Amino acid sequence: MEFFGLPRIRLVGRLVEAFSEAVQSRDLRVVMVESPAGWGKTRILQELYGQLAMRQPRPAYWPPALDVSQRHCVFPDRVQPVEGARPAWFWWGWSCTRTSGTPGFAAAAAGEQVTAHLGGIAAAIAAGDRLWRQRLSYAVTAATLLPALGVLHDLADLIDKGADLDEVATKARTVLQTRSGLIAEAFDRQGGRTIDVTGWSKAAAEVGQAADVLTAVSHLLPLVLVIDDAHDLDPISLQLLATLRQRRLVGLIVLTACTRSPDGEVVEGEFARWLSELAGQGRVERHRLARLDLASMAKIAADEMPEVSDPGALAVVTECADGNPLALRELLRLPAVQDAVRTGRDLAGLLRSRTP
Ligand SMILES: Nc1ncnc2c1ncn2[C@@H]1O[C@H](COP(=O)(O)OP(=O)(O)OP(=O)(O)O)[C@@H](O)[C@H]1O
Ligand SMILES: [Mg+2]
Repeated sequence: MEFFGLPRIRLVGRLVEAFSEAVQSRDLRVVMVESPAGWGKTRILQELYGQLAMRQPRPAYWPPALDVSQRHCVFPDRVQPVEGARPAWFWWGWSCTRTSGTPGFAAAAAGEQVTAHLGGIAAAIAAGDRLWRQRLSYAVTAATLLPALGVLHDLADLIDKGADLDEVATKARTVLQTRSGLIAEAFDRQGGRTIDVTGWSKAAAEVGQAADVLTAVSHLLPLVLVIDDAHDLDPISLQLLATLRQRRLVGLIVLTACTRSPDGEVVEGEFARWLSELAGQGRVERHRLARLDLASMAKIAADEMPEVSDPGALAVVTECADGNPLALRELLRLPAVQDAVRTGRDLAGLLRSRTP
């Protein structure tokens, strides 16, 4: 579905620009997008991805878009690069929404994306600056925290020794299959339920090494790290993020987080504390989404129910959703609301009874 709202389109443009600036000045930009739930944060990330994907050199490495029908999709779930394509940047998406009550390990859950791009990353490492390649192969291996990052370090080593690229990628994948991360091991020991404190503290000790590997990689292939729903970050991923912020990385980190109200602060917790500290130092660019304008909301409504010819009927629902595109779509998918829109029966009364 089309992407609406001028301020949001401009924000996506600003994110693309921040990435270009970072690549040009060889440093790191950190940008934050904040809003209440459902206002369109994930969609901003999906649109950023689309813009970057459109700008890549041909043949294209990344698919043109993320699946916008999946509200929490921050990484491409299918990548089949054209023969001979080389990635111009490394898109890495962490999703922090918790499926169960206990925090997962967002960075590790996103490890598979690194695995999927091993061939592409290997090619970029081989084509990149020799000094940084050597730094990468000298970096102490981060294999125990995140196996995929440890393998990146191995890649650089093999490439430096003159191994063939395809061979390198195949070897890396084999190594990965036999390695299990610290956290995964700790989970296994507990029967996949909870992680004991020793698992977390061991992992915490290795965050610095993982950051070293990522820093070196980012000088060979700029990083675009997107962290969706960062207010829900687990302690180790947050520590990795905080460490990355202190390193000389090349690229862009985009974070989204929920606020409880339109003017409120990010949902309280460890992440909110880190963010306000960072903001105090002027080291993060913060953007707050406004309500989506009525005209854009009306277009979303028309898109949801194209068969409705009386725009007045939809306007009642649009107003009720109060600038929240998710609320609008969910309302328009309720059979009772659809029915009332079509028949013109007491829609306003129905909506009043449904909203707090
Ligand atoms: N500017 C827009 N134009 C059209 N559709 C939009 C726009 N913004 C959001 N949407 C749609 O509205 C729905 C909610 O958006 P999204 O999932 O991005 O919200 P969110 O802020 O990430 O929500 P949550 O806080 O629950 O993660 C999605 O279906 C999305 O595609
Ligand atoms: Mg979201």
